[in-house]
Amino acid sequence: MALNADFGARVVIDTRTAPWIASPEPGVERKLLDRVGDEVARATSIVRYLPGSAFASHEHTLGEEFLVLAGTFADEGGEYPVGTYVRNPPGSRHRPFSTSGCELFVKLRQFRPEDGSRVVIDTRRAEWHPGLVPGLSVLPLHEFGGEHVALVRWAPGTRFQAHTHWGGEEILVLEGVFSDESGNYPAGSWIRSPHLSRHQPYSEPGCLIYVKVGHLAEKPRDTPSPPS
Ligand SMILES: [Fe+2]
Ligand SMILES: [Fe+2]
Repeated sequence: MALNADFGARVVIDTRTAPWIASPEPGVERKLLDRVGDEVARATSIVRYLPGSAFASHEHTLGEEFLVLAGTFADEGGEYPVGTYVRNPPGSRHRPFSTSGCELFVKLRQFRPEDGSRVVIDTRRAEWHPGLVPGLSVLPLHEFGGEHVALVRWAPGTRFQAHTHWGGEEILVLEGVFSDESGNYPAGSWIRSPHLSRHQPYSEPGCLIYVKVGHLAEKPRDTPSPPS
């Protein structure tokens, strides 16, 4: 499967209205955002575990990154309540489940092979830092080899300078409304902007966003090239 597999193209998806797709496991469903490959895929998805559901034990060949959007996710290593950011590095494995149900933003098979650190951050308790302009607060989550991941909170009325995305930019709007000259993106919007794209973002009502930059300049690793 190749879905939004041209990483040179801009993509905007309202994940609130995107359809849930069944997974191989009963009670686990997903909304596909981008995907290169079949059941073993470089993939970005919203995943929902219904209460009491589980997924088969699996290895993360090129890593797994997720943010818990609602509920509580769990595996044999512990419980991950809403707001938890987790990176399971290449070669790790687990058997996930959720007793009470949960919803996750998940990126699979997108680590550099040498990025071996496991990360677990409770973003509700972590320390935020001032951003580059007044009204912005930043919670850094990870950085490796030119890729940066953070949560960024925008106070109402915050405007950022026009900038170019070296290596692209991916945003999931978690709360409020994020905007730029191309549109308004309410909570649940996923925006993937390619390498060297530009914009001047702002937020009138304020917002909270997940942001990853610097990861869209290369072709996917260890996966077939998208059809041209
Ligand atoms: Fe996993
Ligand atoms: Fe940007």
